[in-house]
Parts: sequence; C-alpha cells; structure tokens
Amino acid sequence: MSVVIVDQKIARENFLKKPFRLKHTLANNPLFTLSRLVDLAKSLPSDAIEYNSGKVAIGARPEDVPKIDRSAEDVIKSIETDNAWMVIKHVENKPEYRALLEQFVTEANIAAGRKPSDFSDIEGFIFVSSAKATTPFHNDAEENILIQIKGDKFVSTFDNDDRALLSEEDLEISPSRHRNRNYETWFEERATLHTLKPGDAVHMPYMIPHWVSTGNTYSISMAMTWKTPEVLRLNKIRLMNGTLRRFGMPQRGPGVSPTMDAAKVLAHDAVRLVIDPLRKTETARRVLRGLIYGKNANYYLKTKP
Ligand SMILES: [Fe+2]
Repeated sequence: MSVVIVDQKIARENFLKKPFRLKHTLANNPLFTLSRLVDLAKSLPSDAIEYNSGKVAIGARPEDVPKIDRSAEDVIKSIETDNAWMVIKHVENKPEYRALLEQFVTEANIAAGRKPSDFSDIEGFIFVSSAKATTPFHNDAEENILIQIKGDKFVSTFDNDDRALLSEEDLEISPSRHRNRNYETWFEERATLHTLKPGDAVHMPYMIPHWVSTGNTYSISMAMTWKTPEVLRLNKIRLMNGTLRRFGMPQRGPGVSPTMDAAKVLAHDAVRLVIDPLRKTETARRVLRGLIYGKNANYYLKTKP
C-alpha cells in the first residue's frame, strides 16, 4: 500500500524548492502509539533524545529554553497533561522505522520525478509535544516532509532566499550552536501558515526557515528527511565554514568561490576519514564534539562531560 498521497504536478513543480502540502496513510500506524514511543525512547542512547519545556517563545534564545528534569520515558507517558516538547532522533537506526522511512522517501521522490540516485542519508525524527507547545524559529540542513500523526500542528514557513530573516552565517553548521535562530515579530508578515491534521503532511525544503506550534491536544509527528547530492555538498562547505568561524576564520558562503568550495569539500572528507571511526560510542561522540566545538556542543544533554 502507498504511504504518500500527492498531486504529481504540484510535487514536480515545487519539490526541493517550495513548501507544499500532501497526505500520508501512516496516522494509525502502530509504530506511533505512546507506549511504542516509550519503548523506542528506552532503547536509544540519551544523545538521541532531546526535550525541554514546550512553553517557549517563537524567538526563544537557547539559554531561555527551560529544561525538564525527568526521564524521556516519563515525559512521553505524561505528554497528554504536560508542557513538554521532545524529539527522538535518528529512528532510522531501528529497522521497523527505517523500512517506513525508506518507503516514504522513495515514494515521494518518485512522485516528484526523481531517481533513487537523487536521494540518500534517509533519517527520521519523531516529535512528541504537549498541547500548545512551540518549536522556535529555526532551519534544518536536510530535505524534509513533516507528517502529522496525532493532534494538530501549525507550521509557519518563510522564503528560503530572504536574507533579511537569516544571514549566510545563520546557515552555517556548527554543533556548538543551538538550532534556534533570532526571530523578530515583523517576520510574521512574511510567513505562510500550513495547518496539519492527522494524515496531512508538508514538504519542507533544505534550510527553509520555520517555526511550529501544536493545537489543543498533544501532537505526534515525524520528519521524514533525506539529502540530495547538492545538499551533501552544501553541508560540507557550511560545516567547514561554521568550524573555521569558531576558530576565528570567518568564510564566505558557498557559491562565492568555486575553488574554495572544492577545497573545503576535500578538507571535510579528509577530516571525516579520521574522525568517523572514533565516533562509535556516545561518550566518544560527546568528547569529540566538546573538543572541536566547546562545551556548548553538548547543550541538549542533561549530563555534560
Ligand atoms: Fe525543523
């Protein structure tokens, strides 16, 4: 059975460029019940789960986001009555969620006229949020289709090329920086609102600025994400730029100098060749993030190294 329901003309015109609405058939899938999500949370390392209070402003500064001092399992169990926001990251590492993700991303890409070689790095993020919770203004470095499973979600998206909202520096990638971006109330004049109910979905292209809130009941949704060859290339350049900025060497954005872009891609690949084999355990990942990006790199973990 198909999991993606989409108008192919709309998909072909807008895919990877502009947000558009579509539908899915996963709202009643047993992988998304609260008890199943509790089991999932228990089975994952703690750096795969991030949670905090859902009562935050759209433009909340990272240091103003209140933490919750309870286990992830407890937060999910009380999500109906709580004020919490949670993301369970990298569920593609669990075979049953991976199968769903691969089917979904493949169907969506084929509907938009893409081939299997046009997408890779399929990853899944499940969001569990209480009623009236807010995900502050931010952008994500991957292609995404956000599917709504339970409750209502209100997604405000903005123009991807509007540098008045986000600068090229804001697009740089650095684990030492919280994802929340500076938000000013006048931005809202430029927002497009997508209201999602169970069975609805919205395509969120690479780096599109957005903020999200939930309705009067708790919400479960999932980001079905992937990367194109172009996104992989841009991310390498932007990660190098973010890292060099941290060491006092700010760089120009991708596209300004093709020679520098190519050199950064090569340097990135050389460094990853050394670092990736060291990133096998959670402790090693924490230490490496801390060494390269400083203590803020582990900002979402309750116990810092
Ligand atoms: Fe996001």
